[in-house]
Parts: sequence; structure tokens; C-alpha cells
Amino acid sequence: MANIVGGLAASHIPAIGGAIAKGLQQDPYWKPFFDGFPPIREWLGQVKPTTAVVFYNDHGLNFFLDKMPTFAVGAATEYRNADEGWGIPTLPPIQGCVDLSWHLINHLIEKEFDIVTCQEMLVDHACTIPLKLFWPQEICPVRIVPVNLNTVQFPLPSAKRCYEFGKTIGEAIRSWDSNENVVVIGTGGLSHQLDGERAGFINKKFDLEFMQSLNDNPEWATQYSIHELVEKTGTQGIELLNWLAMRGALGATKAKTVHSNYHIPISNTATGVMALAAA
Ligand code: DHB
Ligand code: FE
Repeated sequence: MANIVGGLAASHIPAIGGAIAKGLQQDPYWKPFFDGFPPIREWLGQVKPTTAVVFYNDHGLNFFLDKMPTFAVGAATEYRNADEGWGIPTLPPIQGCVDLSWHLINHLIEKEFDIVTCQEMLVDHACTIPLKLFWPQEICPVRIVPVNLNTVQFPLPSAKRCYEFGKTIGEAIRSWDSNENVVVIGTGGLSHQLDGERAGFINKKFDLEFMQSLNDNPEWATQYSIHELVEKTGTQGIELLNWLAMRGALGATKAKTVHSNYHIPISNTATGVMALAAA
């Protein structure tokens, strides 16, 4: 059966793509952010994942506001990136793991998660940028299953539902008849709000409590309603639902933080990155 080696989480700001293209990793503005990644890459070199399940939210490249699934799972052989208008380079296609996609889809439907299945799917910065940060090489060396959560257009799925969704995907990965090492990834957050009266909103205290909870009290964030979470983290900070789904996939027992980093701000966002070893 497949093995889950652990979980990763990272913010997914488009400007990071520009900084990578310009080689700004040592620039004083960017260094405190990029310095979070080498220890995680070292750990990835030890646990050697071959496949990644990526929980993220699409920002209009693949799903627009007219058709917005609550949960959608990719089932394509290849996922292409495209221009979103941020002025950053388009990244090369990423290979899909179709066998795992259909295994997840079958398990989710059996467990009464009525997802949308996508045999074609464009992946935006929220999928490509974190992959590039964890694996900076030209071609992404892991095959992926992209999993979309609607964190964009209300009504959003509750934190409890997202945690359960991730938990069900974790069960499915562990029952996949394969020798592969799988890593689960959540992207987005942490606290940020890009528009409206509270544009620029950041909540360091909540972010750090949330990151700590992923280590030893994974259901902590499920005590809050969606509106409470938006109030605490901002209208885009609610992307932390992707992190919560990732953590659900690791299972209810303690996970061990391999490395984490938190830095304010990059662009409008409080950035976080974490690697969690499965118990
Ligand atoms: C920014 C943050 C995001 O999560 C995103 O999807 C786009 C932009 C930002 O802070 O610039
Ligand atoms: Fe985002």
C-alpha cells in the first residue's frame, strides 16, 4: 500500500514567481521568506516522495465565478499552467498521477463526498508556485493530483468539512495499491485580505496559533465557523482551509513539525511554510 511521508504547506503569492525568475532569493526583501525552504528540501531529499496530492484553491484560471465546485479533483495525465495576468513566467506542465486520481475519486464518492472530477484542468499560481518552491528544478519531479477547495466564492465549505475531506483523502491514499511515497500539500494563507475596507489585514497571533495546532491539535480550527475564520484571517486568509485539509490527510494523531517559517509580509500576505512528518 502507498505510504504518506508527511505534509507540506506554503503560501502561494504570485509575486514569488517573479522573484524566482529574477533570482531574488538573497535580496533583503525576499531572503526571510526564501530561507524557510532549504531545510524542507533537505527533508524531502530524505523521505523521497514520488507523488503529491495538492490541496489548493483556483483563482479564476480553471473555475470562474459562474461555475464554482465546492470540491474538485483532477484526473488528467498532465496539468498545464497559463497566464493569469500577474506578469510572471508560465511554468512547464506537471505530470498527473491518474491512477491515484481515480482511486481518490472512487473513495470520496463512496464516502459521500460528491466531488467534481476534472479530466482536463489548468493549474494556477496556487498549485505551481508552492511546487516550484519545494522542487526548484526546471521540471517538477513528482506526479500530482490537484484537489480544489472553494475558498473564493460564498458559501464556502466549513473548516470541519474540509478537515473531514482531507481525512477521507488520507484514508484513500493509504489504501492505494502502490509502493509510492505520497506527500500531501496545502497552499495559500496565512492571514491576508486583498480588497475591501480591511485590505492589508494580517493577524500574526492567530496564524501562529493555527500553525502550532497543526502539530499537536489538528482539529483546533474546526471550532470556528467560516465567518469567524474570515474575521480572524481576512477574506483570502480563509485559504487556510487548504492547510487544514492537508492536515486531515495526515490523520488524527500528532504530526511532527520538521521545519516551519513565518514572515510578514510578502506582498499583502503573512507567509507561512511548514513541513510535517507523519506520525
Ligand atoms: C496575493 C495573495 C494570494 O493568496 C493570491 O492568490 C494572490 C495575491 C498577494 O498577497 O499579493
Ligand atoms: Fe490566493
